[in-house]
Amino acid sequence: MEVKLSSPDYRDCNSADAMDDFMKRISCYQSSYQPLDPDDTDRELSLIKVIDVGRRYLVNKVQDHIQSRIVYYLMNIHVQPRTIYLCRHGESEFNLKGKIGGDSGLSSRGKKFSIALNRFVQEQNLKDLKVWTSQLKRTIQTAEALDLPYEQWKALNEIDAGVCEEMTYDEIKEKYPEEFVLRDQDKYYYRYPSGESYQDLVQRLEPVIMELERQENVLVICHQAVMRCLLAYFLDKSAEEMPYLKCPLHTVLKLTPVAYGCRVESIFLNVEAVNTHRDKPEDAKKGPNTLMRRNSVTPLASPEPTKKPRINSFEEHVAAAAASAAHPVCGPQEVPAQLPGQNLNISHEQS
Ligand code: F6P
Repeated sequence: MEVKLSSPDYRDCNSADAMDDFMKRISCYQSSYQPLDPDDTDRELSLIKVIDVGRRYLVNKVQDHIQSRIVYYLMNIHVQPRTIYLCRHGESEFNLKGKIGGDSGLSSRGKKFSIALNRFVQEQNLKDLKVWTSQLKRTIQTAEALDLPYEQWKALNEIDAGVCEEMTYDEIKEKYPEEFVLRDQDKYYYRYPSGESYQDLVQRLEPVIMELERQENVLVICHQAVMRCLLAYFLDKSAEEMPYLKCPLHTVLKLTPVAYGCRVESIFLNVEAVNTHRDKPEDAKKGPNTLMRRNSVTPLASPEPTKKPRINSFEEHVAAAAASAAHPVCGPQEVPAQLPGQNLNISHEQS
């Protein structure tokens, strides 16, 4: 019911009309519907049939790694109402000094935040809440103020700034001027020497995201770069936007997954803190990259898939299909005709 009511198809419709229309749709589908038959005609097809939103799955002919990951993903997501809370640790001693990385403890304002966070969690009045931290002191100290058990994840540790750990941005600019420029030019792919890039972080966070999908209410107490990656996943932000998402200290982001997206509320817990956000400098916004360190980027096995625009209505879908038939987006030399995993059929069935 909720999925249908928040569907873009029924944007300006009242619930009774939406339901009525949807039931009519189902009877139209029924007149021409042919179930997949993996025992006979569809024997050779790669498919997963999701029955009653995950009560049962029928998986046929999984042929490669990506297909098996898709199956794993579909088997782990759920549609139970729940809330995910994301926040950073309380302000740390290093935050006060403008230093990045390291493993410092909380400042006195950081400690006040942890107390405010405890109050906030209690006010939310949740039946069950899992609390996750990184293995760094500042997140653990923040969680210690809550009257709840918490789980430490190494994967939630802050981006590893390698040779730049424990330095201020100004110190990095002075000691490694070229590195500083490179990062500004392409922050998502830039990898700190002996450290990580945002792209590396995304890979490291994959098991955390998968487990978040499986859980119900969770509070993740993490770090600036880590929080940006998690937020980008839930809000469907691009690799370009992600390293600049604003995740201020002492602010909880409350994410409520709804059909077709995620609702976000930003709650500042009224404890002042330093601002650790650094915008993309104006001169880095201009023109193509001039500098490129060859080993800073993980080579991609296949071209990055272009994001397809979300299609909201049947008319748009028809128009888009007609347009792509008239002007193919790219020739076969540029992108393989079929990327691995693309030919997995996903069918939802309700009994
Ligand atoms: O400054 C706090 C911090 O968490 C650092 O430890 C980390 O290197 C940095 O933020 C990540 O933010 P950015 O990618 O903008 O440098």
